[in-house]
Amino acid sequence: MLKATLLKATQAGGKILQEYFNGSFQIDSKSTVNDLVTEADKQAENAIIGTIRATFPDHYILSEEAGEISTASNIKWIIDPLDGTVNFAHGIPLCCVSIGVEKDGEMILGAVYNPFMNEFFFAEKGAGATLNDQPIRVSGKSHLANACLVTGFPYTWEEQDNDPVAVFGRFIREGLPLRRLGSAAIDLCWVACGRFDGFYEHKLNAWDSAAGFIIVEEAGGKVTDFSGQRFSPHQKKIIATNGKIHSELLDAVNGK
Ligand code: IPD
Ligand code: CA
Ligand code: CA
Ligand code: CA
Repeated sequence: MLKATLLKATQAGGKILQEYFNGSFQIDSKSTVNDLVTEADKQAENAIIGTIRATFPDHYILSEEAGEISTASNIKWIIDPLDGTVNFAHGIPLCCVSIGVEKDGEMILGAVYNPFMNEFFFAEKGAGATLNDQPIRVSGKSHLANACLVTGFPYTWEEQDNDPVAVFGRFIREGLPLRRLGSAAIDLCWVACGRFDGFYEHKLNAWDSAAGFIIVEEAGGKVTDFSGQRFSPHQKKIIATNGKIHSELLDAVNGK
């Protein structure tokens, strides 16, 4: 029932993103002028939470725009109704719905749906990861020198340690192909299906990383924080790779 509800909620959110994409919609700013939220974020979120609540009225919900609907349940839904809002607001069809399910603090299910590419990524703990129902695996690249990487940047930056600009600069000077798509959930899924060999980002929220994290792990990849400890969606710094280039990417991000 959890899986069926997850699939239904993710699809419902994706349908709303499609409906809004080509029309005109309200866009507001949040923490900065370019930290955006649109009508589509909010309507997709309403549809997703409504779908979950209809079956599981007591479950804990953490969702980007609605915030925390805290209950005593050991099941927590971690929702990003629209990951890639800036892309969406500019008419760039690289965005998705991302929903993870955590049970007793462990991720057990994840779904990421980009309706504009008709790509539905899904993973269940211990059962592997799929793209449109076909099993996916991370890439087999074993050296950072010929890897293709992806990263993202936060809307605001105050801390000085692990400066994302310095890390980005090092990769550019080395001539490594490093992309920035604008959706952390898609970045993670594209590592899971082998399009990218590695992804890192300095400041994510749980809703950006929860679903993608389990999808990468179930596709055979490795996900840690910047110290090399296994990742948890409640941490901000993330490195996700095919496993083979993990220690090299970890060192490179840490400037070693
Ligand atoms: C953002 C995207 C972006 C990442 C930012 C996130 P949003 O999420 O995932 O790729 O670099 O850190 O905040 O605001 O589009 O849901
Ligand atoms: Ca997000
Ligand atoms: Ca979002
Ligand atoms: Ca946002």
